[in-house]
Amino acid sequence: MIPRPFAEIAGLGVAVPSRVVTNAEFEATLDTSDQWIVERTGIRERRYAGPSDSVASLSRDAALRAMERAGITPLDLDSIVLGTASPDRLLPSTACDLQALLGAERAAAFDVSAACPGFLYAMTVAEGLIASEQSRTSLVIGAEKLTAITDMTDRSTAILFGDAAGAAIIRRTAGGPKARGILSTFIKSDGRLGDLLYRPGGGAAEPLSQAVLTARSHFIRMAGREVFKSAVLAMSDACDQALERAGVKADEIDLLIPHQANVRIIEATAKHAGMPMERVMVNVDRYGNTSSASIPLAIDQAVEEGRVRPGSLILLVSFGAGFTWASAVVRW
Ligand code: UT7
Repeated sequence: MIPRPFAEIAGLGVAVPSRVVTNAEFEATLDTSDQWIVERTGIRERRYAGPSDSVASLSRDAALRAMERAGITPLDLDSIVLGTASPDRLLPSTACDLQALLGAERAAAFDVSAACPGFLYAMTVAEGLIASEQSRTSLVIGAEKLTAITDMTDRSTAILFGDAAGAAIIRRTAGGPKARGILSTFIKSDGRLGDLLYRPGGGAAEPLSQAVLTARSHFIRMAGREVFKSAVLAMSDACDQALERAGVKADEIDLLIPHQANVRIIEATAKHAGMPMERVMVNVDRYGNTSSASIPLAIDQAVEEGRVRPGSLILLVSFGAGFTWASAVVRW
């Protein structure tokens, strides 16, 4: 095995739609309240895509920022690996649509379907492409238009989700001790629990039909409490795994950057990892749950706020439908 790090995050970019939706807006249409949403989830507002926004267009905006920061152009990309749970079309991949938008003619492009940990899964795949010398420079995306697959009449899910995109340029580096880059990754799944968070209809097993539309079964369904419990257990274990693989202790981590689904899940994960909340990134209040875009969105804000600086050690961890979970330790 090649000693790590051999790949680094050379540039990061995000894109969020301009429309801000506050909790108060749901009070008009659903049997809910700002107080319930804030107390049970920590969410205060989220962003909703407009009619002209697509997963590919949000991804393009995030990718252009990431490439500018990395000092590269679309023609430098060898691969585009895009994590999403809300692809623009079922065929072809959103990654191929993004490739066309960018004019990234040299790249191979494909989607990764791993729900909320989609960005970390995609980063893991990109690191593997670099290790096998099929890529030197990869564009990794986590992007969602969850509002397109959310049942706005279901109070238990409608209040949770938002739209956003995050992009990272993953590039081959010379490595060496104390070099910046990816120090460890961990990915894991348990397909037996798929029906706790899923879209029952609209796929090949139950193609879109009037019956599917009437039952609203093409939208996300979630058994919230069960997902909550599994999320805490899996993210706690994933933190341990990434730390062990990197040979790093929790107290050496400058910032824990967890998937932003619910502030109570984040607090429970941080407690297990032995990380005080001052060293934990939280921005679920501003964006809600943006699934695969959540981790890059949180890293970007942490960098902007100066909480992640050159040399900082960060621990990334996520959990979602599948179930899938993933983690990574990165030296910034
Ligand atoms: O991103 C990947 C994975 N997703 C997650 O990690 C989400 C995990 N789950 C959660 O974050 C939480 O389970 C939720 C926020 C979804 C729900 O919070 P909870 O504390 O687990 O509530 P609950 O589902 O146990 O429901 C408690 C009560 C229920 O009423 P009854 O049966 O006690 O009368 C719900 O009907 O809260 C009710 N409820 C609401 N009340 C007001 C559910 N949604 C709402 C709402 N407003 N929006």
